[in-house]
Amino acid sequence: MYKKQKLVVLTGAGVSAESGLDTFRDSGGLWGKYDPQVVASIDGWRADKGLLINFYNDLRVGLKDKQPNKAHLLIASLEEKYNVTVITQNVDNLHERAGSTRIIHLHGELTKVRPELGEYDRTYSEKEVIDIGYGTIALGEKAPNGQQLRPHIVWFGEAVPKIEKAIEEVESADILLIVGTSLQVYPAAGLYRYADPHIPIYIIDPKDVSIHDGRIVHIKAVATSGMEEFVQKLEKN
Ligand code: APR
Repeated sequence: MYKKQKLVVLTGAGVSAESGLDTFRDSGGLWGKYDPQVVASIDGWRADKGLLINFYNDLRVGLKDKQPNKAHLLIASLEEKYNVTVITQNVDNLHERAGSTRIIHLHGELTKVRPELGEYDRTYSEKEVIDIGYGTIALGEKAPNGQQLRPHIVWFGEAVPKIEKAIEEVESADILLIVGTSLQVYPAAGLYRYADPHIPIYIIDPKDVSIHDGRIVHIKAVATSGMEEFVQKLEKN
């Protein structure tokens, strides 16, 4: 049995744009309508828990009628020929629903909640994370440990617990594919720097890319057609 090449796919909001989910920084994007420091930061949570509970309830309920698009499906289908790991900044579940089996959610998952932890509490453990699907939580609703339930989202001002795992994946990649991210939010945006200097890096994005590195092949397209072009390139190699 030949060893499958390791393909690591770093995705951002752009991969879900054609499924009807807003990106963050494009015109009309989420951060054009809401201030991320108010609705997506730990300080915002402390200032108004009810506001954030409602904000994420709305996003979570809205996720139910969204579908994976062809880009999610093509990424999942590459598992037949490649050892694929998806590292996503997205909190939607569209990679899962497309069939990808190895997914690292750097910024959390919209369908999950967990107990809020006090300022000096230990970090949460995975067994405290509760999958509520497309349901809602309420202010005053407590986790089994008695603390207020909160969205299982990594907010601005919080650590990214899975970044070490993500770095290990990128370090061992034979091919790195980046789809639909403006590469403006760290540490995710710095992941590509951990790739072996000799491997190819493909970026699928309809806009110009913000990083300049000799290894980069920019497929200037939306995610669905860009993924078709990427798969063709792989088949030629
Ligand atoms: N197909 C592919 N890429 C697209 C498409 C599309 N149809 N539409 C837009 N894009 C690209 C944009 O050109 C941009 O480069 O997707 C990227 C979206 O960038 P952002 O809106 O900044 O989203 P993202 O990079 O995922 O944001 C990173 O910021 O606020 C935090 O936690 C949040 O995970 C998010 C992080």
